[in-house]
Amino acid sequence: MADLYQFRDNSNTENPLDCLYILRCTGYDPLGRLELDAKEKRALKQKAKALKPRGQEGELISGECPIDMAHRVTFVGLGDESELSLSKLRSGLLRVTKQATKNREYQIGLAIAVRAHGMTDAESRLFALREAAICDYTFDHFKSKKNEFDKIDGIHFIPLAGETEEELSDRLKTVRMYRESVYFARDLANRPGNDLTPEALASAARDMAEEVGNLRVTILGLKELQKEKCGGILAVAQGSVEEPKMIVIEHRPKKPKKSVVIVGKGVTFDSGGISIKPSAGMGWMKYDMCGAATVMGVMRAVAALELPIKVVGLIPTAENMPSGSAIKPGDIITAANGKTIEIDNTDAEGRLLLADALHYSARFNPDVVLDFATLTGACVVALGHECAGIMGNDTELIDQLVKIGEDSGERVWPLPLFDEYFGYLKSEWADMKNAGSRWGGAVTAGAFLKQFVPEKVSWAHFDIAGVGYLEKEHNGQSVGGTGFGVVLVSTYLQNLLK
Ligand code: BES
Ligand code: MN
Ligand code: ZN
Repeated sequence: MADLYQFRDNSNTENPLDCLYILRCTGYDPLGRLELDAKEKRALKQKAKALKPRGQEGELISGECPIDMAHRVTFVGLGDESELSLSKLRSGLLRVTKQATKNREYQIGLAIAVRAHGMTDAESRLFALREAAICDYTFDHFKSKKNEFDKIDGIHFIPLAGETEEELSDRLKTVRMYRESVYFARDLANRPGNDLTPEALASAARDMAEEVGNLRVTILGLKELQKEKCGGILAVAQGSVEEPKMIVIEHRPKKPKKSVVIVGKGVTFDSGGISIKPSAGMGWMKYDMCGAATVMGVMRAVAALELPIKVVGLIPTAENMPSGSAIKPGDIITAANGKTIEIDNTDAEGRLLLADALHYSARFNPDVVLDFATLTGACVVALGHECAGIMGNDTELIDQLVKIGEDSGERVWPLPLFDEYFGYLKSEWADMKNAGSRWGGAVTAGAFLKQFVPEKVSWAHFDIAGVGYLEKEHNGQSVGGTGFGVVLVSTYLQNLLK
């Protein structure tokens, strides 16, 4: 992962950068908004005149850099600024990474003087810096031949006019922290099921806590889960040789302002169980622990930020497999809160894990509980890959999260939880079934979860099935785990202190 530098701040300045990238929109000159001296601006302006970048979306025009700071200069077009969405900006940055990697430019300069549409200057700046810091992600852990030569070593940010050294350095500090947390979450999501078992996920939590400090990790194993009567978690895991766990990660500052629990679905592989999934595409289900990855990433960020909020991450984790000991359709199980569930479909396993974890959250006296899960294909059918579905019991909380999501580039969109939806889960034999009919699959899952949320708690459920992992590059985000939610929740928590 490339180091992030404040421009001209490191010892490297004697060696010119390999390339200076200047982002631009149509119809204006970005150089005016950069903190460069007049001579440099003049030279770059002249170069722009000669190369004639128009700023159109997708444009990449390179030439020799007219000033000492770099060998080459590349103008990166982003289209009309009044239409500059976060995903367009993100796509532009991914193009920078790709070109730099292809050209083996190890040290690059980045001048981002464009403003994302509908954001304040400060918001837009933070977004752009953060995206720039997380756009060079790759996952080559399992490649025997690592492509060290194809990686950018340093990104040097040019300050904006009026942006003091201190401001930029503070922003980069925040951005670095986000990058580490987001990359941590992405790495987890990208690890395959044979490597990232529930056990390995628990170790990853322990290692992370040791590395960043400010966290306490407790792992509930089979015995403890039995003692807690976590019938949902145990039911999902009973067909697998992998023992289930509940990973509890606590951040408990002195005199905390609030108490928030974040729950993440940690199915390390979802075959569907006896209601087995079709084999085409089944391999993607290694990422059915994206919710867990989000929670781990958030806890890392919370610890690094030393937030004066009690934040507890809860990760119920198991593998969903078919076998002679697996749960069967028709079985009736009892969740930790005593409610009975008829298993209608063993592929609706995530909600069984979450049910117990949501119930378990009560002991931390939370004001707010947020859960993240790659819960339903139906949510992907409804919303595609542009946003997560959000449901809950507190419209004010949901409105807040929608707004934060919009500004952080991790969009969420509300789906209703009318009481009638719970009727879709009516069982002849038990308190409820774990799956409804085909219709309204994302909201019936939400209605199911609602039965297990502790009383008087503000709760929001994020269905991240379409956004936690991308099966191919999309809107400037590369293939694989996205770390969706890490920035959103960290921002939400920071806002609680305002
Ligand atoms: N993990 C899947 C949901 C999923 C699907 C995530 C596609 C990411 C991409 C979940 O456990 C599941 O299988 N859900 C079922 C529920 C159904 C059986 C009620 C689904 O969506 O089909
Ligand atoms: Mn499933
Ligand atoms: Zn699943």
